[in-house]
Amino acid sequence: MTRDQKFAVHHQSPNRMATRELNIIANGVTPREIIDRILEDGPIEESIHVLDLDDVVRKHRIWVEQMPQVKPFYAIKCHDDPIIIETLMKLGTGFDCASKGEIMKAIQLGVHPESIIFAQPAKSVESIAYAKAHGVNLMTFDGQHELDKISSHFPEASLVLRFRYDSDQVFVPLGRKFGCDPQTEAPDLLQHAKKLNLKVTGLSFHIGSGCDDANCYEKAIETARQIFDHAKLTGHNITLLDVGGGFPGAKGKPIDSYAERINSAIMKCFGDQDDMQFIAEPGRYYVASAVSIITNVIAKRVTTESNGKKVLFYYVNDGIFGSFYSAGHEQQIVYPVVQKQSNQKLTSWIWGPSCDPLDLIARDIFLPELDIGDFIVFENGGAYSLVLANRFNGFPLPKVKIFVSQDIWQSLHNPLKGSESK
Ligand SMILES: Cc1ncc(COP(=O)(O)O)c(C=O)c1O
Repeated sequence: MTRDQKFAVHHQSPNRMATRELNIIANGVTPREIIDRILEDGPIEESIHVLDLDDVVRKHRIWVEQMPQVKPFYAIKCHDDPIIIETLMKLGTGFDCASKGEIMKAIQLGVHPESIIFAQPAKSVESIAYAKAHGVNLMTFDGQHELDKISSHFPEASLVLRFRYDSDQVFVPLGRKFGCDPQTEAPDLLQHAKKLNLKVTGLSFHIGSGCDDANCYEKAIETARQIFDHAKLTGHNITLLDVGGGFPGAKGKPIDSYAERINSAIMKCFGDQDDMQFIAEPGRYYVASAVSIITNVIAKRVTTESNGKKVLFYYVNDGIFGSFYSAGHEQQIVYPVVQKQSNQKLTSWIWGPSCDPLDLIARDIFLPELDIGDFIVFENGGAYSLVLANRFNGFPLPKVKIFVSQDIWQSLHNPLKGSESK
């Protein structure tokens, strides 16, 4: 990497000590070439997250092209690396924060409080007070007790009613935990807010994370219009619709059909409302494809099932207590790629390194036979991975290597070119 510039950068959170390094590389170097160079150095103790910042920028450009009237508020919970937040801030996105900690992080990195939605319907009093003290006025609610709490601690806030609208084609359904029923609960909540003299200015929903069902957004937006009309009758002036997250983020999973449904539903349902603003809270979309996780086989075992079938067990240096929580608990799809080529593929299981029997990344997949020290690279590993990593069983956190091309780095840091905000 002789022509590249390399910097050590430090993670801001004291409790998470992932080591990070920023590499500004020559234009035109592909992620595959970067990974190959890293593999040439041989295995190390930690897994390595290769973060391609260009990919995040590319995703933003696609979003703006596809849904110019829907401003993305990136969901920090999905991947909270400062460089992702700073990059998206420069590109002009807003941010969805779920906690005082995320608000603090965003503000410390220079995010304007008006570019934050506190999108957590169950907030602590402390976090509400923190939001108020820092000028973060926009926040969601979905129940009467939350309204009472906000009325006591931040009555001037601009409130966004989160209603429930679930897709049944998602990795992570959210509707059981959050979102009021649009028919049976929303009217009473709007009434209660009025009684407390609170301002409800927005509506939001989240159809679930990792959604394969673009049509669902359309129906949710139709439901939003019904609540909008009801809110008007109750005396609330709704000017914001937040269509949440759920958008796919893996390579080869475009958002065209999602954009098409959302754009047309907005036109159909809110085309008569000139002062309406539209936002979304994408997390996975922005970061999933930007990260490849390089693991290596640290141990191997050949087992025989009761029917006599041979199965290869590989134990790698990262697992569900590291980067793969979502693979273990939410059946999120993993995308393992190996270097070895062979026509003979064997039934294989990939285990994490800990002693926990739940620490399983993938089962019954077909791979060429691997040896100890061989690499398994997991593509599309940026969403809900590093943010969930801990040191269970004493294993180290992954190492993060960030790559950005000279041109993209220049465009982000050259004030003459400015931001790409809409
Ligand atoms: C309130 C809220 N907004 C946004 C997101 C991000 O969703 P996604 O990563 O599916 O885009 C989540 C994820 O859980 C969420 O809970």
